[in-house]
Amino acid sequence: MCGIVAYIGPKDATAFLLEGLQRLEYRGYDSAGVAVAAKGGLKVCKVKGRVADLAAAVPARFKGTTGIGHTRWATHGVPSDANAHPHTDVSERIAVVHNGIIENADQLRALLAADGVVFTSETDTEVLAHLVAAHSGEGVELEDAVRAALGQVVGTYGIAVLDAQQPDRIVVARNGSPIVLGLGEKEMFVASDVAALVRYTRQVVHLEDGELATVRADGFRTFTEDARTVTRQPSTVDWEVASYDTAGYQHYLLKEIHEQPGAVERTLSGRLDERFATAHLGGLNLDARELREIRRVKILGCGSAYYAGEMGAQLIEELARIPAHSEPASEFRYRNPVIEADTLYVAVSQSGETYDTLAAVQEIKRKGGRVLGVVNTVGSAIARECDGGIYLHAGPEISVASTKAFTSTVIAFALLALHFGRIHDLSPADGRRIVAGLKALPDHIREILKQEEQIAELAAEYADNAGMMFIGRTRGYPVAREGAQKLKEISYVHAEAYPASELKHGPLALISPELPTVALVPDDELLDKNLTTLGEIKARSGRILAIAHRTPEAKLIDHCLLVPKSEPELDPLLLNIPLQLLAYYAAVALGRDVDKPRNLAKSVTVE
Ligand code: F6R
Repeated sequence: MCGIVAYIGPKDATAFLLEGLQRLEYRGYDSAGVAVAAKGGLKVCKVKGRVADLAAAVPARFKGTTGIGHTRWATHGVPSDANAHPHTDVSERIAVVHNGIIENADQLRALLAADGVVFTSETDTEVLAHLVAAHSGEGVELEDAVRAALGQVVGTYGIAVLDAQQPDRIVVARNGSPIVLGLGEKEMFVASDVAALVRYTRQVVHLEDGELATVRADGFRTFTEDARTVTRQPSTVDWEVASYDTAGYQHYLLKEIHEQPGAVERTLSGRLDERFATAHLGGLNLDARELREIRRVKILGCGSAYYAGEMGAQLIEELARIPAHSEPASEFRYRNPVIEADTLYVAVSQSGETYDTLAAVQEIKRKGGRVLGVVNTVGSAIARECDGGIYLHAGPEISVASTKAFTSTVIAFALLALHFGRIHDLSPADGRRIVAGLKALPDHIREILKQEEQIAELAAEYADNAGMMFIGRTRGYPVAREGAQKLKEISYVHAEAYPASELKHGPLALISPELPTVALVPDDELLDKNLTTLGEIKARSGRILAIAHRTPEAKLIDHCLLVPKSEPELDPLLLNIPLQLLAYYAAVALGRDVDKPRNLAKSVTVE
């Protein structure tokens, strides 16, 4: 949510800033801006709209070798030119870009206004620019002014600060919002996400919370808020540059849907033990004795991560027979939850940055609970906060809507459930059944993806409705919820998910030819019940698209998409794949901005 870039070196900064912002645009896309330190002061250009609008607005003579840039997702104040970052002080000496939230911005605004500061935006960030300026007296180093300003601030931030009078440096700081330094040859880069850096360097340094850095063309120095120098060794970015491109696909979303077989293979890699029919999860930091003492599992995540958690809870209950439940982290953190020593808490997050999930983890830990993370982004805030966990290794997910990380999360839960099950009472035969089922999943997904053309045609047909109902029973219900979520967030078609068993208790009243139903009809012990529900919908003239293992009788459905049969516990994961393509092609048919749906952004780092 919001992206930061900065450059210092011999070259023109603007070219890198604009290209870097384009790479980070998935993190926020309602306004963007850049500032460079130039002879005679700062040059600032910022506009409401996309990075392409900014690129068109930057004047040809906008030159400077030190610069900062930002792409925004509005929190304080509407998207507008004035509210776009960078923000400057009154004399336009200091420029600041910021991700996060300054919680005491109102009090600081009042103090600054009393000193005669006139504000030009509604943002919390602008106070930072004025505070840094207020501390930038004669002979004061920029890093000291930034430290003094941050000393007055309560909240979360990743910032980059430019001073027209000290253009030989950029000062950056991190508290709850990532800042990464990229090391070049006599040039340095900064970004809030490695996606902006990988084309320029693979050598990076991740700042820790509470750290600052002075970045110069020939290197950097990291230090704490009380000015103690800390040493940070660079690490090498694992992923190939190509992982951050669309690789010829029309959208990142389509590419990421197609990457799922490979992502699943990576999530499984080295973790299946065929001999003992179990899974090895080295990062749990819990031995078998500790795991056996666990009486309950509580899974926390937001949005699709929460729905993946629902599938995870089902897997744990079925395979390990331990009561498990998934709850939105955004609710959990506000309801003073009871934290129990014999409950295992599991936080789910693709980005590892979602603020609500992070806050839930912190609340559990404050009360003595034990938390595992199921996280995609290595070294992210949530991963670091947890006591142990499972990395997904799904690769970078750029499109705002989650697909491959969702699938890999469910795989991670299947591994956890298998591991748990085999130290409780899951039989070796059942363990072997699940191991074989997991190994077959990548090929099963490939098979489903071959139906892309047929799904695209159906999507175009069904997109032409004001709304859609998604139904599933027990294991199928989280699939319905995720399917509805995907459709609404990228196509803006209203979608409602219901347990199939609940339809007759209310929502059946909605069924009509204008509200089609996507029904999950796996070939399992509840098949007959599901077929009865289809009959009830048909009796009310409802149209039905079934996702099934066998085509139901023609009188019960209008269309059917078949998926390969896996083990019953793993079926939900496969039933979800056609729904991803359905949402994608519905959005394409309606001409939506698939990778950057309106009002949303990747990584929700605000409350
Ligand atoms: C939906 C989607 C969101 C995220 C949610 C949590 O497609 O992407 O609902 O799942 O914002 O994000 P992470 O997993 O990064 O914590």
